[in-house]
Amino acid sequence: MKYYDYIVVGSGIAGLYSALLAQELGSVLILTKGSLDECNTKYAQGGIAAPVGKEDSPELHMKDTLAAGAGLCDPEAVRILTSEASDRITDLIRFGVAFDTLEGEITLTREGAHSLPRVLHAGGDATGAHIETALSQAARRSKARILEYSLVTEILLADGSVQGVRVLDNGTGFQKEFQCRFLILATGGAGQLYKFTTNPEVATGDGMALAFRAGAYVADMEFFQFHPTALRMPNVPTFLISEAVRGEGGILRNVHGRAFMKDYSPAGEMAPRDIVARAIVAEMKKTNSNNVFLDVTHLPTGTVTTRFPNIYRFCLEHGLDITKSLIPVAPAAHYMMGGVLTNIWGQTNVSGLLACGEVASTGVHGANRLASNSLLETLIFGKRVVERTKLVAQAATDWNEASHMYPDEGMAVCALPHRDVQGLEVPPPSLSALESLMWEKVGIIRSGEGLQEAANILAAWEKETGKPKDRASYELQNLVLVGRLITEAALIRKESRGAHFRTDFPEPSPAWQKHTLLIAKAQGHS
Ligand code: SIN
Repeated sequence: MKYYDYIVVGSGIAGLYSALLAQELGSVLILTKGSLDECNTKYAQGGIAAPVGKEDSPELHMKDTLAAGAGLCDPEAVRILTSEASDRITDLIRFGVAFDTLEGEITLTREGAHSLPRVLHAGGDATGAHIETALSQAARRSKARILEYSLVTEILLADGSVQGVRVLDNGTGFQKEFQCRFLILATGGAGQLYKFTTNPEVATGDGMALAFRAGAYVADMEFFQFHPTALRMPNVPTFLISEAVRGEGGILRNVHGRAFMKDYSPAGEMAPRDIVARAIVAEMKKTNSNNVFLDVTHLPTGTVTTRFPNIYRFCLEHGLDITKSLIPVAPAAHYMMGGVLTNIWGQTNVSGLLACGEVASTGVHGANRLASNSLLETLIFGKRVVERTKLVAQAATDWNEASHMYPDEGMAVCALPHRDVQGLEVPPPSLSALESLMWEKVGIIRSGEGLQEAANILAAWEKETGKPKDRASYELQNLVLVGRLITEAALIRKESRGAHFRTDFPEPSPAWQKHTLLIAKAQGHS
C-alpha cells in the first residue's frame, strides 16, 4: 500500500492550494473523482472578497461578514479570514492569477451586503476559471502526484485515527488503498441535492458523507444558501447570473415589470442573499410565475459585455441578448454553509483529518455567507490546515492538544436520529427523486411537516440504496446521507435565521443562537 505524508481529496481552489503548500513539506497525493479542473471553483463568477480597497479595512470586512451571518459566525474565524485576506491575494497573484485592473489598479466590484466595493475579479465574470487554471497548472508542474477519475469511497481508520483512504478507479472499477499521515478533505459542496442548482455535477457532498461516516462532527447543515439569480429558461441548464450584475446596477423586476426589492429591504438589490432569494420567491408566488427578471438593459452595452462576457455569451447562445432583453431568473441551490466541523486550523475531531473549503464548517459563514467570501475562505484555511500539520508533525503532539477542539458549550449536539420507517411506501431512490424532494420540502421555504416527511423518505432511501458499485451509486449514497443531515438539522433548529426559513417558526429565537452538530452515534462532549 503506497504511503503519502498528505492525501488531498478534491481539486478545487482549496484542494490545489493546500496541496501546493503541502508538497513543500512532504509527499502529496491529490485525488479527484473527475478531471483535475472539474470543480465548483471554476464556476465562481463574482470573484473573491478582500479588503484591499483604499476605503476598506479588515475590520469593515469583518463587520459585514458578521452582519450577513445573522449571529452565527465565529468572530475569531472571521477575524482570521479578513485579516489574512490581503496576503492570500498576493499569493494568488504569485501563482499567476491576473486580476482585472484599470489604470494599473485592481478593480473592485460590489455585491450584496458588502458596504463598499470589495470583490476582485478576473476575466470579468470568469474569476473561478482563472484561479483554477493557474492553480491546476502549478499543481501539474509540482511534485504532487495527481490521480484523476479516482473517487474516495472510505476513510480508513485505526483507533479513531486516519490511516488512509480506499479509492475507486472510475475507469477500471477496481478499488485500491493508500495510506497517509494527514488527510485533507477539500471536496466542495452538495448542490446536486437540489433540482435547481448553480453547482456542477461533481458537487455531491462526498467529503461530508465520508467524514461523517468516519466519526466527524458535521455542523450547521441546515444552512444551505440559495443564490437569488440563476437563469430560468425552459430547456436551458441552470446557469449562475452573478450577484455582481446587481452590484453593477442590475434591477430585479417582477413579471409585470415592477422593481420590487425595496418592498423587502431598504438595501434593495444589495440586500443579503437570503433576503433577496425569499423576496423573489414571494414575487413569483404573488404573480403566479416561474421567474422574475433581472434588467440590465439600461446599462451601457460595453459595460455588460466587458464586465460579464461569459453571462452575455451564454445567454446569447440560448437566444437571449441581455443588453436588449430582460433576463428570466429564479433562485437555485448554491452553497453549503455548514459542513465538517473544524477549528480555526481546519482540524476535525478525527485525528489526522482536516477539511477546508466548502466541505468544512469553519465558522466564517454563520447562517448566511457574505458574497465572494467563499473563494477567500478556501485560501485562508487551505493554508492554515497545512500550517497546522507542521506543528502536529514537529511536536509529535496529540491531535487534540494541538489546538482547541469543538464541540463547545452552547452547541446543540445530536446523534443522527434513527427513524422507524419499516413499511413506509416510498418511490425508489434516484437522483431525480432526491432532487425534487429536497427542492420541494427542504428548500428555500420549509415547514416542520414537510421536513418530517422528507426525513422519513430519506431514511427509507438510505436503507434501500444497497452496496454501491460505481461512481454514480456512491454519489447517490453520499447525497442521500447529506440530504438526511440537512433535513434532520433543519428539524432540530426551531426558528428562522439566515438561509434557514421555517413557516412554523418564522422568527429568529435567541435560544437558537447556537450551532447544530450532528454525529453518527451519541458521544459524550470531549
Ligand atoms: C456570484 O457571482 O454571485 C456568486 C459569488 C458567490 O457565491 O460568492
